[in-house]
Amino acid sequence: MRVLLAGATGTLGSELVAQLLGAGHSVLGITRSERGAQRLAVSGAEPVVADLMDRDALLTALDGHEADAVIHQATALTRTPLFHRDLYATDALRDQGTAHLVSAARSVGARRFVTQSFFLGYGYRDHGQEPVTEDRPFAEPGQGAFDPHMRSMRANEQQVFTAPGIDGVALRYGMFYGPEVSTRKLMDLARRRLLPAVRPASVVSLVHIHDAASAAVAALEHGQPGRPYNVADDEPVPFDEYVRALAAAAGAPSPLRMPGWLLRATPYTHALMVGTRLRLSNARAKAELGWRPTYPTYRDGITRGLFDGE
Ligand SMILES: NC(=O)c1ccc[n+]([C@@H]2O[C@H](COP(=O)([O-])OP(=O)(O)OC[C@H]3O[C@@H](n4cnc5c(N)ncnc54)[C@H](OP(=O)(O)O)[C@@H]3O)[C@@H](O)[C@H]2O)c1
Repeated sequence: MRVLLAGATGTLGSELVAQLLGAGHSVLGITRSERGAQRLAVSGAEPVVADLMDRDALLTALDGHEADAVIHQATALTRTPLFHRDLYATDALRDQGTAHLVSAARSVGARRFVTQSFFLGYGYRDHGQEPVTEDRPFAEPGQGAFDPHMRSMRANEQQVFTAPGIDGVALRYGMFYGPEVSTRKLMDLARRRLLPAVRPASVVSLVHIHDAASAAVAALEHGQPGRPYNVADDEPVPFDEYVRALAAAAGAPSPLRMPGWLLRATPYTHALMVGTRLRLSNARAKAELGWRPTYPTYRDGITRGLFDGE
């Protein structure tokens, strides 16, 4: 397939370009910069320079191009978000950005559309011991300060599921780790003893960046229209254990302990690191997409799939 890829220069996007080309697809990659365009050309993708937030400019840049599918992997996140405001630009990319990409899909003749958001769309709270499947309510309103993020995640999925003539598939990613910027930053904090092991700890679902990309390829090829897929590894992990494992991988001393209530001053961080227990089920992605994580647990990913020399 010829794939129009938004976010093609990103950490995930770069891995995805390589995997798409390796699977025999061709890639038309969107970037806002000439530098990004040069990188894309070197990697074997055809670049298109456009800003997703500018619908007219996007459609003009795509004039004369054709594609079979669109994949939306653009984000404005540059690190693990600590405050609600850190997510607002990404919220816009999931809402208006998706709307513009649906128009773009029409203009290039693409029928298939793979989009993605975040597993915490199920809600930043205690979901108990049972694995959370895609049948649970997703991105529900009525979650206070989280509502803008929920609204954008809902809009993101609904737009691709309901657009006439579009076969939409949505990925709900666990938390990324691997050779990518937020893992690097956490390891750097651990080296400076600024990354505490907080108790009580949230339970989160992780996915290695390589496996996040392979799930997007699998969704492109096998995803059923109108279906969301959770994409996480096989073993949810308490956040403090993950922090300890990252510190060990970084050669840092054991992290300092911190009581969870101390994070209440930063409500988003508190919800992420203390107040959430969410064990994501990946059974549907395995059954319907034929996807398997190369790194089934964070221990595999940290020992085999992190950084050279770290
Ligand atoms: N699950 C997680 O833990 C987690 C963490 C981070 C992100 N994510 C999600 O995963 C996806 C990929 O993240 P990543 O780590 O690969 O991000 P990244 O490395 O920061 O890359 C961001 C990408 O988005 C593009 N982009 C940003 N704003 C854009 C705009 N207005 N118009 C066009 N392109 C724009 C950038 O393109 P140029 O700069 O070249 O224009 C770049 O290709 C995102 O959709 C994000 O929501 C998930």
